Amino acid sequence: MSQVFRRKPIADLTAHEGAEQSLRRVLGAGDLIMLAIGAVIGAGIFGAIGTAAAGQTDPSGAVIRYGAGPALVFSFLLLGGACALAALCYAELAAMIPHAGSAYAYAYATLGEFIAWIIGWDLILEYAVGNVAVAISWGDYFTTLLRGFGLDLPVWLTTGYRTAALSSNPAVHGLVDSAPRLFGLPVLVNLPAFGIVALITWLLMRGAKESARANNVMVIVKLLAIGLFLAVGFGSINPANYQPFAPNGFTGIHQGAAIVFFAYIGFDAISTAAEETVNPQRNLPIGILGGLAVCTLIYVIVGAVLTGMVPYQQLAVADPLARALEIAGFTAVGWVVALGAAVSMAAVLLVFQYGQPRIFFAMGRDGLLPAWAARLDPKTRVPSTTTLLTGGLVAVAAAMGDAAETYDLTNIGTLFAFAIVSIGVVVLRVVEPDRPRPFKVPLVWVVGPLGAAACAFIMVGLPVQAWERFGLWLALGLVVYAAYGYRHSRLR
Ligand code: ALA
Repeated sequence: MSQVFRRKPIADLTAHEGAEQSLRRVLGAGDLIMLAIGAVIGAGIFGAIGTAAAGQTDPSGAVIRYGAGPALVFSFLLLGGACALAALCYAELAAMIPHAGSAYAYAYATLGEFIAWIIGWDLILEYAVGNVAVAISWGDYFTTLLRGFGLDLPVWLTTGYRTAALSSNPAVHGLVDSAPRLFGLPVLVNLPAFGIVALITWLLMRGAKESARANNVMVIVKLLAIGLFLAVGFGSINPANYQPFAPNGFTGIHQGAAIVFFAYIGFDAISTAAEETVNPQRNLPIGILGGLAVCTLIYVIVGAVLTGMVPYQQLAVADPLARALEIAGFTAVGWVVALGAAVSMAAVLLVFQYGQPRIFFAMGRDGLLPAWAARLDPKTRVPSTTTLLTGGLVAVAAAMGDAAETYDLTNIGTLFAFAIVSIGVVVLRVVEPDRPRPFKVPLVWVVGPLGAAACAFIMVGLPVQAWERFGLWLALGLVVYAAYGYRHSRLR
């Protein structure tokens, strides 16, 4: 038993420096803040925000979850607070252990191999499954934009099999029967979602610096799109829309927060760039905390303007920002914002598609995954095998999957990782009090436990189904660990 809880010495975690199997340090603080904004602002603020405000009902009209209404700004503030606590803990560990594995590596150093494996496995939900949701959302925006140009793709080429099977909308559901058939099976593929993941994977194979440069351009576009939305939306605020302010009381704020938590995911993702960061001890805390601060501010303002523009009940759509502009009479502006949304989501895809292979890479280097996972391209020093593997898995899942199904799973998995990191930082203060800490969480005895409690509290706002699926995923992870990692762990 004590074997599987063995901790990896931090010196071992950082020993790869300069070695054959290490990444190249090319990213500065500015790159990191841009990467954080690239990862954070996307499907959450351009899509999920609508459900968070309006809530969700089933086809019979029964409430599945309550929306926050205009009190959505409180959901954003609640999330900003919870994420700030977790971000402080991430910053301390990332500066101390500048290693590609992010929370996986921190767990290995603090809570031992078994928990590290669980976190590594759990992070697949944040990165790969999260990207499935974003890719599908991207596909929706792209298809709508194409339609604006008069180009209509057949529905069976833009709808995943799961979406058709689950939807109560007869136009989509009927596709399971009416789609073309191959070997007797309905051909239902989300081609745009597949295509964007393939494109992003190709870009990532070119190297970290090239990817960061592409990200910078996309971040500028997304900030312009949000700026345009705010500038035009601000003039269309009707104070009457703020009444009632919190139609579902605190339950609405809480459940709304659990949905729109998706919008915050990503500030932590830049910790996977730790091994490619110049002076990580200084730059990682700046990138993580700076990125989160900028995004929280933007979200609170967007939430306030959006719920002031239209009655919150009208926001339960896939593209609430564009829709609100349209309702306010600015259809053309809505179209430009939709274009900005598609670019924004491409940046999210890029950063997550960047992070996942580096976590697999770290796990491969530790022997918890097969050695091929730790292979680097000799020329670009990109973890090429895992980049291609992630790209393939996410592209296929995005072609077949359903976005709504994946959002909750991503949220619960990420909140779990945040909670573990918040606890891990406290544990490491106890077991290695003297290790140099370039960045220290202030009042760690309050911040760590409070961060973990806040994440647990938001998790409680998610539906039972998300908990069940999360449990199943972890159980599957245990089987994989017993079958492979337990036997091959380099540490043991
Ligand atoms: N925060 C990212 C998004 O909203 C995952 O798309």
